[in-house]
Amino acid sequence: MRLSPPLAAVCLGLVVACGGSDSVTASGIKSCAEDPTQALCKVMPPATDSGLRYYVSRTSRSMGTALDVTFGTSTAYDALVAREFNLVTAGNAQKWQTIHPSRSVYNFVRGDQMLEFAQANGMKMRGHTLAWQNQNPIWLMSGQWTADTLQKVLQDHIATVVAHYKGTIYAWDVVNEALNADGTLAATIWSNTLGKGYIETAFRAARAADPATLLFYNDYSLEFPGVKQDAAFALVQDIKTRGVPIDGVGFQAHFQINADGSGVPSRASLVSTFQRFAGLGVKIHLTELDVRIRAPGATSAEIAAQAQGYTDIVAACYAVPACEAITVWGVTDTESWIPNAFPGYGNALLFDGSLTRKATYGAVRAGIGG
Ligand code: G3I
Repeated sequence: MRLSPPLAAVCLGLVVACGGSDSVTASGIKSCAEDPTQALCKVMPPATDSGLRYYVSRTSRSMGTALDVTFGTSTAYDALVAREFNLVTAGNAQKWQTIHPSRSVYNFVRGDQMLEFAQANGMKMRGHTLAWQNQNPIWLMSGQWTADTLQKVLQDHIATVVAHYKGTIYAWDVVNEALNADGTLAATIWSNTLGKGYIETAFRAARAADPATLLFYNDYSLEFPGVKQDAAFALVQDIKTRGVPIDGVGFQAHFQINADGSGVPSRASLVSTFQRFAGLGVKIHLTELDVRIRAPGATSAEIAAQAQGYTDIVAACYAVPACEAITVWGVTDTESWIPNAFPGYGNALLFDGSLTRKATYGAVRAGIGG
């Protein structure tokens, strides 16, 4: 069954094989079509010149945030998202573990809620992610796959998910984190069985399911010149040369300020990196931006370096026409993934837990030039 917008009308809820008459809602979460009074379904107050998106909209670029569990729990939070950003990414809701919990079951509920919110508020949405090593369901990770059966599973997943969102998702992170720090192919469920060819398979399946959405390779630490950046460049160059459909490279842009204030490449270095990839004819998105500092205990010099880093990153993107979108990985420091993943670090985002703008917010404004 092919799904077409508006999504709410057709295949919402926990959907078995995504069939109309097979549909069952088992999660207890309601779609906006079922209950339009939910806070997250409301059109928020129009963006004014008090929000980042106002300044970004004058540049024809996008400024986004990741949405996760806090989204939909507070009108103040949702209104802030709609005021400050014109792009959203599902931080977890469109990953395999969530969206494809059993082999014949897809659960689009949470991703659809985010899309409906974005559409109601004039925002774009990035899709994240279609082929990754992490946050996969047990049925996938513990399956006994041959190359043929696993390839079919990957193609079916991408065909179903991308088709569900056909015409609505601005860009998909098709392949996520395929490379090791030394530039070699990361060992994943996909590469272990399908070899490097899974990357091409994923991009082709995504293009077949939606000819209009932008298809991205997304990875971390590509911002730093070195072997991993070189390997990503070669990877993109190779698949582009062979006619594999790819439209962009996602630089995750997770940075850490060190005690000496280093950690974010210079503005000139970032510009040169973005220009290098733009030379391949691909777009550039900064997809998961955050700049962490010691927490607690950051010195004023570290805090200043963090702000300067934010300004440099945004300004570097804006200096390169192909760099069309920047997404920060979460709204508030309290919901950020950083304290869990990097104990002793935090305060990486633009707002504190009280939804108050931080110095980093002003630093982003300065980078935009608004
Ligand atoms: O939702 C449950 C909640 O019900 C439960 O009580 C809680 C207990 O720990 O866990 C919650 O789930 C967490 C989930 O985030 C939702 O916030 C998971 O434990 C946690 O592992 C998960 O972390 C996510 C992480 O990917 C996992 O790899 C982060 O939110 C998410 O921001 C992060 O995003 C990745 C990108 O997709 C790819 N690039 C790296 C980036 C950072 O790891």
